Amino acid sequence: MTDLTTLLLSRIRDVADHPEPGVMFKDITPLLADPAAFTALTDAFAEMAGRTGATKIVGLEARGFILGAPVAVRAGLGFIPVRKAGKLPGATLSQSYDLEYGSAEIEVHAEDLSADDRVLVVDDVLATGGTAEASIQLIHRAGAEVAGVAVLMELSFLDGRPRLEAALDGAPLEAL
Ligand code: PRP
Repeated sequence: MTDLTTLLLSRIRDVADHPEPGVMFKDITPLLADPAAFTALTDAFAEMAGRTGATKIVGLEARGFILGAPVAVRAGLGFIPVRKAGKLPGATLSQSYDLEYGSAEIEVHAEDLSADDRVLVVDDVLATGGTAEASIQLIHRAGAEVAGVAVLMELSFLDGRPRLEAALDGAPLEAL
């Protein structure tokens, strides 16, 4: 395990039975409150943005906003929010995806991405991969390329990676 991984893991709190019984919630607020850990995380994601030739950072609501915005500033790139449906005021592209029970929908401002862009998607957790996969579909529908997906944590027992790798078509998925 690297020093970075040890530091980040030490700042993630397991909360049992949140938000419902049987779920072990990964709480990143201790990491956000520690400037050394938050800076190290931001630097690692910004390094990936540079290495993959990203031209924009997409953050997935809501914790992907907190993690992605400083990456965009550090990397000198624009930040684009992918929001839950109904929040963005302008003309949007929408993508729905299946949940265990029901479905969800995310949106991006259509004008924020173009064929000139290579996009790094940033989020806190990869679980089933549904949210990140839908964001990749949005990016492709906007005509842009996906530079990769960067997450803090991957819950590998939920098998999000194979699903996402199929959508990524060779672009990297990196979990710190
Ligand atoms: C969580 C997490 C990811 C997503 C991962 O967000 O922050 O965005 O779920 O799950 P998936 O891989 O199964 O799609 P959540 O929907 O809880 O939204 P929030 O960040 O606004 O709380």
